[in-house]
Amino acid sequence: MEHFLSMKNISEHEILRLIKEADAIKENGVSPIHKQLFAGNLFFEPSTRTKMSFTIAQRKLGIDPLDFAGETSSLQKGESIYDTAKTFEAIGASMLVIRHNQENIANQIAAHVSIPVINAGDGKGEHPTQCLLDLLTIYQEFNKFTGLKIAIAGDIKHSRVARSNALALQTLGAEVYLTSPPDWQDNQLDYPYITIDEAVETCDIVMLLRIQHERHEGGVAYGKQHYLSAYGLTKAREQRMKRHAIILHPAPVNRGVEIADELVECSRSRIFKQMENGVYARMAVMKRLLTDRGIIDENHFNQRE
Ligand code: CP
Repeated sequence: MEHFLSMKNISEHEILRLIKEADAIKENGVSPIHKQLFAGNLFFEPSTRTKMSFTIAQRKLGIDPLDFAGETSSLQKGESIYDTAKTFEAIGASMLVIRHNQENIANQIAAHVSIPVINAGDGKGEHPTQCLLDLLTIYQEFNKFTGLKIAIAGDIKHSRVARSNALALQTLGAEVYLTSPPDWQDNQLDYPYITIDEAVETCDIVMLLRIQHERHEGGVAYGKQHYLSAYGLTKAREQRMKRHAIILHPAPVNRGVEIADELVECSRSRIFKQMENGVYARMAVMKRLLTDRGIIDENHFNQRE
């Protein structure tokens, strides 16, 4: 693996290898790298989970995170994102983690730097490390993907999480369904649409999506109460879910909108477990990139903490 930009061209074998790697790191830990390496964390869009879990994952691996704040950087003097990335490479970063509101920006930068690039969310494009932590959470629960029925529910049109997950889950043999208000459907995603009521009654996993307020030009068309009762996970719907079914949400959660407030921490919810898994999923991705690129010897990691 040269970069980690998308779930599009990753084989079933490679995805499963990353999931199992993340699971093993969570279980056994990993020996930190004894070589000075820096990671440039270039977040041009707000983030709590992704940015902080990359920082923790890097520290656990023995990598020094280089924090970056656009508002105090030379972006303010007109420097481009491309030149910012090239600067991090020039001063010694061994990898770049990029979040930006522009689709494909990480791919464009990856084509012009010699270090690995990780897409930490690009506009409505993809969010592959979120996808990997979602897959790890599903794997820990069900130990398989084939035959699982998964509904991805909500703001499909503006969601990079929906795109990455639908692609990867299909590759892994799961049955993917989408559910959303009619005007938030995305016809470029070729999966069957069902209602939220069908989703809760038939699926093993209900993956709710945050309403992406920042990507709705002219504001969100639905009131909070109306959205929850028409398209969200209410307490009444949760009670109709299959006995073993679980709830996922990438967070941040709009409590009382996509999901009833009291369900965020209910026994079916794996929302905070997803966040915990984010650290290990990101460690697995960075470990693989460093070893595949020959920056760190694979044998180094065989020794446990
Ligand atoms: N799920 C996710 O990407 O959260 P942040 O925006 O807080 O990183």
